[in-house]
Order: sequence, then structure tokens, then C-alpha cells
Amino acid sequence: MSAGHPRVDVLAAEARGAIERADSSVELEAVRVRFLGRQGALTQLLRSLGSLPDTERPMVGAAANEAKRELEALLDARLADAVARETRARREQARPDLTLPGRRPPRGGIHPLTRVHDEIVSIFLGLGFSVAEGPEIETDFYNFEALNIPRDHPARDMQDTFYVSESTLLRTHTSPVQIRTMQAAAGRVPVKIVVPGRVYRRDVPDASHSSVFHQVEGLAVDRHITMADLKGTLELFAREMFGPKSRIRFRPSFFPFTEPSAEVDVLCFMCGGQGCRACKQSGWLEILGSGMVHPQVLRNGGYDPEDVTGWAFGMGIERIAMLRYGVDDLRLFYENDVRFLRQFA
Ligand code: DAH
Repeated sequence: MSAGHPRVDVLAAEARGAIERADSSVELEAVRVRFLGRQGALTQLLRSLGSLPDTERPMVGAAANEAKRELEALLDARLADAVARETRARREQARPDLTLPGRRPPRGGIHPLTRVHDEIVSIFLGLGFSVAEGPEIETDFYNFEALNIPRDHPARDMQDTFYVSESTLLRTHTSPVQIRTMQAAAGRVPVKIVVPGRVYRRDVPDASHSSVFHQVEGLAVDRHITMADLKGTLELFAREMFGPKSRIRFRPSFFPFTEPSAEVDVLCFMCGGQGCRACKQSGWLEILGSGMVHPQVLRNGGYDPEDVTGWAFGMGIERIAMLRYGVDDLRLFYENDVRFLRQFA
């Protein structure tokens, strides 16, 4: 460019070529060091001006300074380009690849006990029942006395019930909510409730016993309702719960709070009633207890048994779930091993 001085011109041409060939910021930086750095060729030339004869010094000096400015400007321009190019390339690399398949977050499922609970409750909601609840810490009165359970009944034994104090205990069934609901209704009819909830018994845990488990209670009180209504309701429940071919049968039984009382069996859905291991060759599976509400229990709830009748039932959620899913150890429902739970998802 500047025709200053041959020595300077050669050096400048060499530097221009090197800048031209460098195609990264790192290479450009190396060129800068090589020519303009503290030990750079042009820097050294400028430093050596003092040893030149007076006649040459001004011309060489001017040419060298001119070349320095030119090369610095050229380097800056090229460096800006290179940095911009490199930044673009880095961004390009960092950009997420939208064509990659996504990673699925692991999905949980409804716990089998919750599932069975929800199904039972929704069947009865569909039949016009509403959901009622009661305390898990209950009084002796509601859990036993008001339900006609006599003082010498084995359920009242310290061996079978968790007592909190002389007169309070962990409820052993959901039946006390029958009394609480009737009292709250203050004589009004109809009463149609289901009561899902946790209950407690002092049992040694094994494949079919747990000190905490779940029940669903049912209660209907109205003028002139009969055992036929109970039977029709439970038949419908069984068909919804266990399939349209499902059948039920009533077996005479005894509960202190119902008279008459019945245990209800459902036709074994494993073998269709032929007899198998699940139903112990009987063709039937016991699913719940039920009966007509005892007149004294109606009275304890504030109703006149001359005026109204009632029926009730109670079933274990774990038992229904075990039958439904063919699970033979109820502890599996509480251990929450995901390998077990995943099968219900
Ligand atoms: N409370 C009883 C139990 O825990 C189950 C039961 C039986 C409830 C008959 C009822 C009933 O409402 O009518 O074993």
C-alpha cells in the first residue's frame, strides 16, 4: 500500500498475507503477536529506528507507523468478522434439536385401594346416596353402645380394640357414623348415605389382617323400606362392581345392630360359580355384612321404629380389592412397591 520504504513494505505485505490467510480469531491473534506484539517484527523495526542514519530515519519511521495503523485496522476488522462468525457457529451448536424424541416424565397411577374406593362410592352416588364421614377417634357410645353391642361382646375387649382412654377408642368399624348421621338428620327422611373410611383393630398383621384398613358403610332410613330394597340395591351394586353376569345371595347371619342380619355373597367371578381356589370350591365369595337396622339402633339415632325402617351394610375395601384383582396378601397394598403398583396403572 504505502510505498514508504522497501523494508517496511516487505514486512507489511507479509503481514497482510498472514491476516488474509488467518480464518479464526485465534489465528488472527497469533498474527497480531507475530507482527505487532512486544516482540513483533514491526515493533522491533520501530524500536531499531534509532540505529538508522539520520537521512533514512524519518522516512522509515513514517512508513513503519503508517503500516502499523493500517495493519491494526485490518486486524480489528477481520477479528470482528471472525468473532461474529464463531459466535454464530456456537449458537447454532447449542440450539436444541427439536426433532429429537422427548423424554417422558414417569407417570404415577391411582392406588388400587383408592380405585376400588372411588368405584364403590361412585356406584352409590349414582343410586342417590351421599357421602358421610365421621371421626376415627370415636367414643365407646357411638362405636359400641348406640349400636347395640353388649358390654360382654368380644369386640369390646382390650385385645380387639385400640383404646385411647376409658371411653374413647379408634373406631373398629364405620358403623358409628350411622348413629351420628341419624342424629344429625333429626328425624328427617329419607337418609341415604355411604361412609368410606379408615378403621382400626388390634389384629396381628398377616396376609388377611391389618391393624388399619378401610370400610364402606351404607345406611338407608325411610318410611316402609324393606329388605327387598336392600337386596335390589346390593344386586345392582354387584353388577356394577363385578360385571353384568354377577349374582348375589343372602345368608342368614347375626350383627347386634341389625335384625334380621345377612351376609352377602357374590357369585365367584373367577370360576363363574363352578368352584375354584379363590372361592374355596364353594362358587361364592363373601363380600359384605348387612341387615335391617335394629329398632333400638333407630331409636338411638332419634327415629321411631314404628314410623320408619332402615337397612345397612358394611364392606371392607381391601377385601373387595383382593377379590377383584386376585391379590392374596393385603400387605402388598400398604408396602407400595412400585413393581406391584405399576400393574394397576
Ligand atoms: N360393622 C360390621 C363390621 O365391621 C360390618 C357391618 C355388618 C356393617 C352389617 C353393617 C351391617 O352396617 O348392617 O364387621
